[in-house]
Amino acid sequence: MKLLPIDLPSLFALALFSLCIAFFSAAAADHKEPCNYSDTVNITDGLRLKDGSYSFEGLLIPLNLTAAYSYKVVDGIQYRAPKHMRGCVCHLKSCITFCCPPKLHYNESLQNCSANEEHSYSRQMHIEVKFHTGIEDKVNINDKFIVRYEFGCKNKYVDLKNDRFWEWDLFEVKAINKSRTSAAILINTGMILIFIAVKDIRNSNYGEGLIFHLFSLTIALALLVYLYLKNPLYLTETACRNIGFLAYFFLMLSFLILNIISGSFWATFSQTTVHSWLLKLFYGLTIALAFILKYLVKTIQDSQIARHFKPGIVRLWGILLYVYLPIFLTTALSLFCIAKTYCNIHDLPNGVQTNPIMKKLDEARSPKR
Ligand SMILES: *[C@@H]1O[C@H](CO)[C@@H](O)[C@H](O)[C@H]1NC(C)=O
Ligand SMILES: *[C@@H]1O[C@H](CO)[C@@H](O)[C@H](O)[C@H]1NC(C)=O
Ligand SMILES: *[C@@H]1O[C@H](CO)[C@@H](O)[C@H](O)[C@H]1NC(C)=O
Ligand SMILES: *[C@@H]1O[C@H](CO)[C@@H](O)[C@H](O)[C@H]1NC(C)=O
Ligand SMILES: *[C@@H]1O[C@H](CO)[C@@H](O)[C@H](O)[C@H]1NC(C)=O
Repeated sequence: MKLLPIDLPSLFALALFSLCIAFFSAAAADHKEPCNYSDTVNITDGLRLKDGSYSFEGLLIPLNLTAAYSYKVVDGIQYRAPKHMRGCVCHLKSCITFCCPPKLHYNESLQNCSANEEHSYSRQMHIEVKFHTGIEDKVNINDKFIVRYEFGCKNKYVDLKNDRFWEWDLFEVKAINKSRTSAAILINTGMILIFIAVKDIRNSNYGEGLIFHLFSLTIALALLVYLYLKNPLYLTETACRNIGFLAYFFLMLSFLILNIISGSFWATFSQTTVHSWLLKLFYGLTIALAFILKYLVKTIQDSQIARHFKPGIVRLWGILLYVYLPIFLTTALSLFCIAKTYCNIHDLPNGVQTNPIMKKLDEARSPKR
């Protein structure tokens, strides 16, 4: 009795292991960083006191609320940055975030902050606040808030329906309807269980492939739903990145496995026997390829490449290049194999053609016994 080429328990163990790595690195980040990045301000300009605390804009920031950061987040995308001190200033006083520094305005066509050529009015420095006593008053922003400018301008319009302007680098896939995805996860899990239960499916090469495909697709969807339900704001940057890349890995893996499925189909109907070592090799290569893709995307994300080509950016190019292009290529390859299979079925001798599929399924299974 032949077992699956890569048995399911070890795949489970691998998945759990990857998840553990994600959580451990998240824990490590928690230890190093005293608070969420969104609560921090660059305090390099502050005065460092003898005991390690900082005096910044009239606030005293204790040592345990400061840390050296070697990255920055602009428009929800994490970039490498020279090491600088940040303090959890927003825990001590409310922070308010503006898109552009004083005297500059966001120019939609240039997509950056530039001096307004038409009029050069100064920024309103007062806002009206309604206190809990019911009294409305004008307050000076600088008195009541710490003003920050360093977070970029995009995805920042305060829209009550979409308060996730802190959105980090995931692909737009995240915007998928969460209840539909949850339903897909349930259906996939059901299908996996049924496929594992039915011996005939479990024992055929493409049946195994199908199980693996659904399995990694389900993991990818589950990770995306997790990210969706858990506001990225509440996760540390590292956790968010790791979960995002892990989801990408499993998504790509599930599509790459489709090639093995259609390849097995083709082999079966062209009456070629695929040895189990060859199949194992293909699975190994597929996993390696998915890893390479993930690594590539990660490297590009951290590199200095033009922002429009970054995978993290929730824009057309990123999605086209890093999600749809690989999926399109694998689908094309699968379709090619299926077309070949179709031709092979037609070429089979007449006697076989009455019920080719059942016969071929039997043939496919018999060498495995
Ligand atoms: C991050 O922010 C969320 C919501 O404000 C909070 O629940 C969580 O404890 C914060 N994490 C850290 C490490 O401060
Ligand atoms: C932090 O602030 C200092 C002083 O204003 C500035 O030179 C540095 O570029 C800032 N670093 C980042 C990453 O914003
Ligand atoms: C920081 O240290 C102060 C005492 O100096 C303590 O009261 C506070 O709880 C500490 N905060 C954190 C986040 O460890
Ligand atoms: C904004 O972009 C334009 C064109 O790319 C450039 O000329 C200008 O210097 C930029 N302004 C700032 C403040 O970076
Ligand atoms: C934005 O920049 C363009 C090109 O420099 C300029 O023609 C336009 O007036 C600017 N818009 C605003 C609102 O400043």
